[in-house]
Amino acid sequence: EKAGYPHFMLKEIEEQPRALADTLNPRVKDGEINFDEIGIDDAMLAGIRKITIIACGTAYHASYVGKYIIERFARVPVEVEIASEFRYKNPIIDQDNFVIVVSQSGETADTIAALREAKSRGAFVLAIANVVGSTIAREADKVLYTRAGLEIAVASTKAYTTQLMALYMFALKLAYAKGGITKEEYHTYVAELQKVPENAEKVIQNKELLQKFAYEHFTEHSVFYIGRGLDYAMAMEGSLKLKEISYIHSEAYAGGELKHGTIALVEEGTLVVAVLTQGDLIEKCLSNVKEVTSRGAVVMVVTQEKYQDLVKDVADKIVTVPDAIDFEATITSIIPMQIFAYYMSVQKGCDVDKPRNLAKSVTVE
Ligand code: F6R
Repeated sequence: EKAGYPHFMLKEIEEQPRALADTLNPRVKDGEINFDEIGIDDAMLAGIRKITIIACGTAYHASYVGKYIIERFARVPVEVEIASEFRYKNPIIDQDNFVIVVSQSGETADTIAALREAKSRGAFVLAIANVVGSTIAREADKVLYTRAGLEIAVASTKAYTTQLMALYMFALKLAYAKGGITKEEYHTYVAELQKVPENAEKVIQNKELLQKFAYEHFTEHSVFYIGRGLDYAMAMEGSLKLKEISYIHSEAYAGGELKHGTIALVEEGTLVVAVLTQGDLIEKCLSNVKEVTSRGAVVMVVTQEKYQDLVKDVADKIVTVPDAIDFEATITSIIPMQIFAYYMSVQKGCDVDKPRNLAKSVTVE
């Protein structure tokens, strides 16, 4: 039921504030993340020494964000693996590994196989899944459900942002259990997470601007997304959203990596989307933006309101998300890119909800 929306994708984009609140709020107690319902306590978390996160596609991009924040705050080493690679490489994994599998459907064949591989080697497996009672949810040792609700559009939106939310919750709880953050920091970060739904709502209310940008750019042949750190993870997901529903070739690059090859593809008029939400990396990434503008690129910058002035000299267009503690601005920063991809697809006349060659749940290997 599209409830008056032209496409499920737009409906699901706009459901994100609700989905994010549903994923977070019932698990917050006295200002802290509570996993009693999941069956994971602080003593168990304190014993974790290494983590492997396994997923495919959009869920893999979410896992990448998980790696950044877990390593930064909990100081536990995290490997992120594409499920279809992990399962065939005789992975080095044993009972000392804490494995997280991330899957919206819980039925992705490669992710199921990777989960079984990890379990057969003695690892403990936590699933972050959306579909209740799915194969992955049933076979994992524990499940942290995202509460996105039914996602119908093939291009994942609300499932992705709720996966991010689940990973932030896990990372902060782990960081506190490991002594990586103080109680005060923990409470501040959790309180800030609780603002994400309303911030997401503000981004959605601003969608006309992105619609306008999309209508100016839907004839592009190739678009590049760049960012550093957490912004690189968002660039990967933004790029995937565009290519899967608009069929425009697009690539994501870590800002510092551009000059090692990809910059050869930038020419007069090439659209580059630069994700610049992280204050400590903006200056470094701005120099990458200048590398492309000096070759004639047109640059759309996604940033926080507080950093607008820093980027205005290099940006042809600026899209802002509400201010937040930097590492938590990541969740809302994908929404403008989802909306941009959506309108690019609409304007090109593509089948937004059912893009060619793609299935919602990939149950083949
Ligand atoms: C892209 C998309 C896919 C899925 C991938 C994994 O928008 O939806 O890349 O993320 O096929 O699916 P799940 O999460 O169901 O395992």
